[in-house]
Amino acid sequence: MSKKYIIAFDQGTTSTRAIIFDNNGGICGISQKELTQHYPKSGWVEHDPLEIFKHQQEVFEEVLQTSKIAIDEIAGIGITNQRETTVVWDKTTGDPIHNAIVWLDKRTSKICENLKEKGFEDYISKNTGLRIDSYFSGTKLKWILDNVKDAREKAERGDLLFGTIDTWLIWKFTKGKKHVTDHSNASRTMLYNIVQLEWDKKILTELNIPENVLPKVQHSSSDFGSISYMGNDISIFGVAGDQQASLFGQGGYKSGIAKNTYGTGCFLLLNTGKKAYQSKNGLLTTLCCSLPGDNIKYALEGSVFVGGASIQWLRDKLQVITKASETEEICKSTPSSEDLYVVPAFAGLGAPHWDMNAKGAIYGLTLDSGKNDIIKATVEALAYQTRDVLDAMVEDSGKLMKELKVDGGASANDYLMQFQADILNVEVDRPEMLEVTALGAAFLAGIKAGVWTKKDISKIRVTDIRFKPQITEHQRNRKYSGWKEAVERTKTVNK
Ligand code: G3P
Repeated sequence: MSKKYIIAFDQGTTSTRAIIFDNNGGICGISQKELTQHYPKSGWVEHDPLEIFKHQQEVFEEVLQTSKIAIDEIAGIGITNQRETTVVWDKTTGDPIHNAIVWLDKRTSKICENLKEKGFEDYISKNTGLRIDSYFSGTKLKWILDNVKDAREKAERGDLLFGTIDTWLIWKFTKGKKHVTDHSNASRTMLYNIVQLEWDKKILTELNIPENVLPKVQHSSSDFGSISYMGNDISIFGVAGDQQASLFGQGGYKSGIAKNTYGTGCFLLLNTGKKAYQSKNGLLTTLCCSLPGDNIKYALEGSVFVGGASIQWLRDKLQVITKASETEEICKSTPSSEDLYVVPAFAGLGAPHWDMNAKGAIYGLTLDSGKNDIIKATVEALAYQTRDVLDAMVEDSGKLMKELKVDGGASANDYLMQFQADILNVEVDRPEMLEVTALGAAFLAGIKAGVWTKKDISKIRVTDIRFKPQITEHQRNRKYSGWKEAVERTKTVNK
């Protein structure tokens, strides 16, 4: 029987999924479970690592059963994951010693301030491509070692392991045989030197992190061990952080390609090839998915913390919509209220502003403003935040962008995509199949398994609609300058 299917595990911030792709990149089965969010204190966000593993096992089994695809037709598995989220577990029992600290969690802001005061900013930025921020894994790992009873002694004895979610899942699925990660995930820890391609000793010493807790770093398309299921072994042949995976799925293994994913946050990445740009405008430099035999490639990244999460806020907290898809019709049928802006700084402000302490705000309310105006302004904020990041990217790279490839849940919203093209003055290219993150992970696994070559990727990704800018320069400038003013009023730093 020919092995022509690939399974992608997509473990995101709010859900865990398994998707089966055939060798044309078509979806043959999909199974999904929501993930419980824990908010133990203001600004803290946690996940239960055991729930993540259980859900991943369940969706894996369910997708196999419902698709009726035989195990021996599966060529491999690709894993893609929410990045930075930090898990520490006991090597012997396999039990986490603390809940996973999620990328959105702000508890380590103080540790970050201390690092900045000690003058580490320049070193971190030159060697990891990142900024000192609670977003990344490094200070979260330090926090666990400092705050969980006996953790540091155990870590020093070699009894504990650290991993981002990919590493945790692989370790559980391979029954403790593999403690590994890939370049794209390692580059999000603030502990990995993206120039030397090794864990950075100076940062480990400063954060007092013993190197033996860290996983081995591999190419994104390589052998990560295998999962045993009903007497069969299926190899994990691809691993990547979700944003780099979607860049890969969009054909972004080539330099010059940019994509924006509208997920929990919004993440705009531009492949800059062999050149690692040092951003002067608040962007990050990060590693793209890596293939053995290829040059290591870098990307400039603009990470916006709250994108689709603000639509969830409308649904779950304000309760003004019952499902996200309702926003499209509401936006289309609500006249634009010129000066109303929602700045969704619910988890501080990420790129390019980097203000850990900022809080969300609404500006321009009048007695006329109703719930639909707030809904529309919340949707539009995704596009404005993307413009902030794109402007920084053009400035840093010196390259004008002609088009932006898009994916992720909210990219299905035609109103948002048109508004995005209008505000950017750039064409927005939406593919037919929006599960690009999972497809990217499947590609990585499929390349290693021999199902695809890199060239096949551009044939499989097909454009659905190109949204072209339709408003005048004057209209664009008027809207965007109002947004910039709103952001300035929200910031707690550099005012
Ligand atoms: O850096 C965080 C990012 O990986 C989260 O992605 O898809 O869960 O919003 P997502």
